[in-house]
Amino acid sequence: MKTCDVAVIGAGPGGYVAAIRCAQLGLKTVCVDDREKDGRPALGGTCLNVGCIPSKALLESSENYEKARTKYASHGILINEMAVDLAKMQARKSSIVDAHTSGIAFLFRKNGVESILGRARLKSVGEHCILEVASGDKTELLEAKHVIIATGSSPRTLEGATFGNRIVDSSGALAFEEIPRKLGIIGAGVIGLELGSVWRRLGSEVVLLEASPEFLPLADEKISKEALKQFRKEAGWTINLGIKILSIKEIESSVNVNYENSGGAIEQDFDRLIVAAGRVPNSQAVANDDLGLALDERGFIAVDRHCRTNLPNVYAVGDVVQGAMLAHKASEEGAMVAELVAGQKPEIDPHLMPWVIYTSPEIAWVGKTERQLRSEGVEYRTGQFPFSANGRAQALGDARGFVKMLADAKTDSVLGVHIIGPFASELISEAVVAMAFSASSEDIARTIHAHPSLGEALHEASLAVDGRALHI
Ligand code: FAD
Ligand code: NAI
Repeated sequence: MKTCDVAVIGAGPGGYVAAIRCAQLGLKTVCVDDREKDGRPALGGTCLNVGCIPSKALLESSENYEKARTKYASHGILINEMAVDLAKMQARKSSIVDAHTSGIAFLFRKNGVESILGRARLKSVGEHCILEVASGDKTELLEAKHVIIATGSSPRTLEGATFGNRIVDSSGALAFEEIPRKLGIIGAGVIGLELGSVWRRLGSEVVLLEASPEFLPLADEKISKEALKQFRKEAGWTINLGIKILSIKEIESSVNVNYENSGGAIEQDFDRLIVAAGRVPNSQAVANDDLGLALDERGFIAVDRHCRTNLPNVYAVGDVVQGAMLAHKASEEGAMVAELVAGQKPEIDPHLMPWVIYTSPEIAWVGKTERQLRSEGVEYRTGQFPFSANGRAQALGDARGFVKMLADAKTDSVLGVHIIGPFASELISEAVVAMAFSASSEDIARTIHAHPSLGEALHEASLAVDGRALHI
């Protein structure tokens, strides 16, 4: 039987980072993952294979196409004929994915992590945990002193919606071989908005069907309102909120969706339907039932703040445990657990988790929303600055949106930063670092920001907290 110090189940951003960090810390580490391509392990989990990376590749390609179609003329760049070569776009996406997944294989070799292709199941725990690893018709046992479960999540399914050619989950929606003429999407959450953006920019008529009457309820209210206003201005989007799906039927060459809103029942046919109604943790079948691995009421593996499960020497990280389903959250937890196993004392502050939605305009935030502060009875001051008054945004030709900063009314500590606008995904890091160092809005206001840069909008928002923005 193979033995090791740490067995990691899953090679997504939670598992592969945990494995690399364990190996860096001198622990003999094995990482088991069941995802394969062409008979070889396809490391990197959902994120690299069918999530963050391929979606961002297609978002970039489709955004370039839309810019060329609608914006280049204003720069004096005239293109007479333009077309989309979808096969080439998809091939570019696949080569980026392949480069990343083989990059993880390289990092495993470099750090001495042993990678096993197979499906792992925890059979017994204690001083020495035993895992069964199944691959094809072969089964082997693996003994480990510590186990890190990083099995991720899978798309939620809806009654009547069987995934196939026309009804797809996010993985299917990343692999379309032709641009749907009419695309329905169930769920106006992060995936619905990002993948809807891709296909809308490439020419699909996109209809989003969202059960919640509120748009993007996780984001700050002002940001959600602005986002909805901006998206509704774009040709090709219809965003229907507060609907109830009544039935989904795949008919010969289309998908028929019946739903109702406050005005009554509506029936629509789509060439393709994406179901993006959330994801569920892969917590079933990862441990033998008699071990009693504790799950919470929503099916996530129950863990403490150091990602310890109720079983001795067994940890769980990433999408399979509570908290945001984000790659960076999974990775930070993976690194934290590796350091704990190696005897260190790491900590993560879950309140400083940045969120980014890669739409156009982009949306990003960290910390508390106004609604949260109001409900907690915290007194706060607000500073807001529009990108329309920022020189770099004007030069980019994208001056939609704003930066909003929330600071404690008494101490001036920054409590939240919310951005909608160009490169919000990059700008948010400054806010995360500032908050990690307990910065006040005045600390940011007194920090020199290069000119002209988008960061000046964050600077101005911090000045605005004290009512002294300079350029508005
Ligand atoms: P996963 O990445 O899901 O990896 C788990 C791995 O474990 C998988 O390879 C799985 O096959 C394997 N596995 C499961 N069970 C077993 C078993 N019993 N034995 C062996 N192997 C097993 N997050 C962001 O932060 N930014 C983004 O831009 C972003 N974009 C996304 C876009 C899409 C379309 C999707 C679907 C998700 C996106 N996410 C994004 C979310 C992100 O992908 C996840 O939060 C992240 O992958 C979670 O990492 P993980 O390691 O917990 O699990
Ligand atoms: P989500 O939770 O963001 O959105 C799902 C939406 O579907 C919700 O608004 C929900 O109200 C709606 N919904 C659920 N059931 C419905 C029904 N029957 N009818 C109509 N609407 C329904 O989940 P999503 O978009 O599937 O993404 C899953 C997770 O993946 C995200 O929460 C996020 O953590 C991660 N992700 C992160 C990205 C990023 O960081 N940029 C990009 C993509 C995904």
